Amino acid sequence: MNNQRASKALTEAMAECAAVMEKFLKNLLSSRKGYEGKLYSAMSYASLKGGKRLRPFLTLQSAKLFEASEQYALRVGAAIELIHCYSLVHDDLPAMDNDSLRRGRPSCHIAFDEATAILAGDALQVLAFEVLSDPKTHPDPNVRVALIRGLAIASGGGGMVGGQVIDLESENCDVDLETISRMQRLKTGALISFSCEAGAILGNASEEETVALIKYAQDIGLAFQIADDLLDVLGTEEATGKTINKDGEAGKATFVSLLGISQAQKRAQILIDKAIGQLDMFGDKAANLRAIADFIVDRRA
Ligand code: IPE
Ligand code: IPE
Ligand code: MG
Ligand code: MG
Ligand code: MG
Repeated sequence: MNNQRASKALTEAMAECAAVMEKFLKNLLSSRKGYEGKLYSAMSYASLKGGKRLRPFLTLQSAKLFEASEQYALRVGAAIELIHCYSLVHDDLPAMDNDSLRRGRPSCHIAFDEATAILAGDALQVLAFEVLSDPKTHPDPNVRVALIRGLAIASGGGGMVGGQVIDLESENCDVDLETISRMQRLKTGALISFSCEAGAILGNASEEETVALIKYAQDIGLAFQIADDLLDVLGTEEATGKTINKDGEAGKATFVSLLGISQAQKRAQILIDKAIGQLDMFGDKAANLRAIADFIVDRRA
């Protein structure tokens, strides 16, 4: 497939995934009466009408490689997206990045209040595991447990949360490239990696296939965070929906702060080329996974 056709196919496939995800999450978060009403409004605010839905897209596309059920993959992708949305709500809090703009709108704690944002994040996190544990996600309890375990590992102290701690501890410190790589692999890479691994779990993939897919995912995960750090310097508020130049002001340790813009760009491109090389065994079925890898470094949002 030539590049133009691949990118048109990718845009359409991503839009389709985003629409299905929106519908599923809207249904899941239907409003509640009484005291919980405010909480569910904040959960909906943080999860609906926005975001690229990259992680569910990766789960759907990975599941497709093994002809796994799209319905199951959609539920797993939604669970991962719930964790991602919770991580953004907490990431924006004054105690963390103190960001007031998210997905082009006031951050959750600005639109509501800090306590509600903390609780909405908490509730989104556990809702993810409620979705995975539901027999509708997969009839085999062993598969459900594998998914729950994988998501817990990717999001906890040895994954996303662990990476967020390193991120905060490294502010205004001299950290080396190894530490920055580890931080980015944990805070962003772990969840992206699990998004692909989940497709392999659902599709009962072979060891060899799973390893190749995870290697692909780890490299695009790191490249994704490098691209995010580059967008903080080179992007626009209109396109990203986030405040620009926040990382420098906060003294964040990033590939950009350590290596400069052009070396960071080169490193992201090397990772993407390496990632695409892992997909050879999947042939044409991996066309969208190849295209999304290119999108990750070329994106404006
Ligand atoms: C932003 O993630 C936070 C990072 C992990 C870099 P995304 O860029 O995927 O955010 P949305 O979901 O599209 O808003
Ligand atoms: C956050 O990284 C990664 C998360 C786990 C939420 P950033 O702090 O760079 O994400 P943005 O730029 O606020 O989206
Ligand atoms: Mg942060
Ligand atoms: Mg942030
Ligand atoms: Mg950022």
